[in-house]
Amino acid sequence: MPKLMHKRHDASDIFIHWFNAACWLLLLLTGVGLIQNPAIDPFGSGYPAALRSLVGGGTNLLVIHEAIGVLWILGFVFYLAVNFKGARFFLAEVFTVSPGRDLPWMFKKMVLMTLGPKALKTMGQDPNLPEQGYYNMGQKAFAQASIVGGVIIAVTGVVMLLSDRTFGAESTVMIGWAVALHFIAVGVVFAGLLVHIYMAAISPEERPGFRSMFTGVVPDDYAKHHHRLWWDKVRTGGK
Ligand code: HEM
Repeated sequence: MPKLMHKRHDASDIFIHWFNAACWLLLLLTGVGLIQNPAIDPFGSGYPAALRSLVGGGTNLLVIHEAIGVLWILGFVFYLAVNFKGARFFLAEVFTVSPGRDLPWMFKKMVLMTLGPKALKTMGQDPNLPEQGYYNMGQKAFAQASIVGGVIIAVTGVVMLLSDRTFGAESTVMIGWAVALHFIAVGVVFAGLLVHIYMAAISPEERPGFRSMFTGVVPDDYAKHHHRLWWDKVRTGGK
């Protein structure tokens, strides 16, 4: 008998996710190449120098970085135009936190992943995780950081882009803040991204969730076990 599957992602959701991931990769690769400070260069000065010579100099590298950034923003504008309803659903799910259920989930999940169920029992805690909805609290925390961080990166990126062309000396303080916030937001989202990629693509128990980012659907048993409150809604037709 074919497995019962539930729809989780629309084609436009899948498109924007992988478009965003591809842009992030290219923006990180080109952005790190723009850093010209041996004291903070993550890969040493060899990588920026090699990348700059590959694209014909630092000015070209900056133009490429800016062009990918503008394309990234336009991709989201396109997605909002095509699936505004989907974006609203996503934002509502991600920013709805139920402290009584989600905070214990987060705490227990971290203990389970590091020390195991015995540790929770020794603390007098039930090792079973509280039921979660469409997203679990870990996914929500990363999504919140990547949305807020993404908006900061886009706005500060546009400020820096315009500063090269139109702003005068009186804007120096604003540009200084834009540079600092751009770096901080990239750092915070990148830290979350390492965990996100591990949880979403490497951890075997999340494999059906990973496949759903290509097929759009998840098996019934996975939905029931990982997203029980969402599964309940799907089973009762959304009531
Ligand atoms: C190799 C890179 C990536 C992989 C393998 C990956 C994998 C996944 C998967 C499998 C999901 C679906 C989870 C589910 O609905 O059950 C997902 C969701 C999501 N991804 Fe990614 N992703 C990658 C890169 C990124 C990047 C670069 C960002 C943003 C900076 C991002 C942001 C999100 C968000 C906000 C969600 C929804 C919330 C969540 O599930 O955490 N992803 N990703």
